Amino acid sequence: MSHPMPPKPPARPERVSLWRYAKLFRQDILSAQPAKLYRAWMAEFRTPFFRSFLVNQPDLVKLLLKERPDDFPKSDRIAEGLRPLLGNSVFLTNGDDWKRQRRIIDPAFEGGRLKDAYPAMRAAAKAAVARLEGRRGPVEIEEETSHAAADVIFRTLFSIPIEHEVAGKVFSGFRDYQRSQPLLNLAAFVPLPRWMPRFFRRGTRRNAAEIRALIAQLTAERMAAIGAGQAPDDLATKIMTTRDPETGSTFDAAEMVDQVAIFFLAGHETSASALAWSLYLMALYPEWQEKLAAEADALEDESFAAVSKLKVSRDVFRETLRLYPPVPMMVRQAAGPEQLRNRRVPKGSQMVLSPWHLHRHERLWDNPDGFDPGRWQRENGKQCQRDAFIPFSAGARVCTGAGFAMVEGPLLLSTILRRFRVEPVADRAPVPVAHLTVRSKNGIWLQLSPR
Ligand code: HEM
Repeated sequence: MSHPMPPKPPARPERVSLWRYAKLFRQDILSAQPAKLYRAWMAEFRTPFFRSFLVNQPDLVKLLLKERPDDFPKSDRIAEGLRPLLGNSVFLTNGDDWKRQRRIIDPAFEGGRLKDAYPAMRAAAKAAVARLEGRRGPVEIEEETSHAAADVIFRTLFSIPIEHEVAGKVFSGFRDYQRSQPLLNLAAFVPLPRWMPRFFRRGTRRNAAEIRALIAQLTAERMAAIGAGQAPDDLATKIMTTRDPETGSTFDAAEMVDQVAIFFLAGHETSASALAWSLYLMALYPEWQEKLAAEADALEDESFAAVSKLKVSRDVFRETLRLYPPVPMMVRQAAGPEQLRNRRVPKGSQMVLSPWHLHRHERLWDNPDGFDPGRWQRENGKQCQRDAFIPFSAGARVCTGAGFAMVEGPLLLSTILRRFRVEPVADRAPVPVAHLTVRSKNGIWLQLSPR
């Protein structure tokens, strides 16, 4: 049997002019980087105007994310493109503001709450299969997984399906926003002076305002339902009624709009990306697909206990997060001057953490570019899972939805493969590019047939 490699974007030539780099960067940050980043421990982008450092060494990644996160706050540059949409949400804040927000949000995502959210996830998985049921011919699966992941978020957060009118409008609004505003743009690497006006592509601000108005409607309705003692026991109610243990206060309505916006965005774009790539990988590796489909019979049991039986599915999903980390890069900022690997890192330097490169690091992983879900049961895989695997980031700012996503992802993957066989479509191999998350340039196409 032939073993194709999972798609990897071409690297750029080793030396290019700054001008050319900027141009490549605008197209796609993944292919704008040289191949040596898959071997480097640390790299510096030095230009006449700015400095940034890519950190690619396990103990340095640990230093930034786990040991001294307060000295490397979130970069305010990365926040710029997202501010119109996300306001003062937990994704963008730093310091005391951020700490208070996490104290209120974290309890909603504790293990016990996942079990409560599970029936809503299952309902979304079933609805996804029902939507696929009628499809003939090649299917662009990213669109389907976006739909499914958005459905999961609406059902778990607000107890409404994607067919709900407001939910549907928020969903399409986000889709347009993602097209108009790449997560990482050059501004993230180029410190712009404070006084310089910030430009957004036409429509971005208006689009953001529309999405926020819709979300405000949902949160206002929920506030009223909570007041009347008639609110469903879902994530929104939990978050809106949790008091900060230190100050005793809850989120006010405006703050809640910011938080809901980030849950929609962080919670559906990422999961949709990972699910789409995992389905594509299953089409490429039918022997794994068969194992997974057989295992999926465990879902006959409708209870939460079935999740723990989806072992192959979880290994496949984890391997997908390694090869196609939905958030390919993260940016922090050095609060003060630092000395890292004998390099002087000036205050204000942009520190780039790249799950994309770390997860394929040639000096750390066995068979770094190969698809091998079995690796997670072997020594090298276990070691790397601890040191060089950060799809959800790590430390204090780790993704609040990590546990949620590791239930949702395998559940949706298994539910879909239990019903359908997937195959690649000839001449339509996907090319990974980084939009808001890692997507395929021209979609991910699959041929589905019922099992
Ligand atoms: C496969 C799915 C997911 C992946 C790969 C993922 C990845 C990430 C990453 C890498 C970060 C850190 C970003 C940074 O530091 O710059 C993050 C933060 C966050 N994620 Fe996720 N995420 C996923 C699903 C979810 C879900 C389902 C939710 C909520 C329902 C969620 C909510 C958040 C929030 C609120 C933050 C901000 C945390 C903070 O800054 O304190 N994510 N996610």
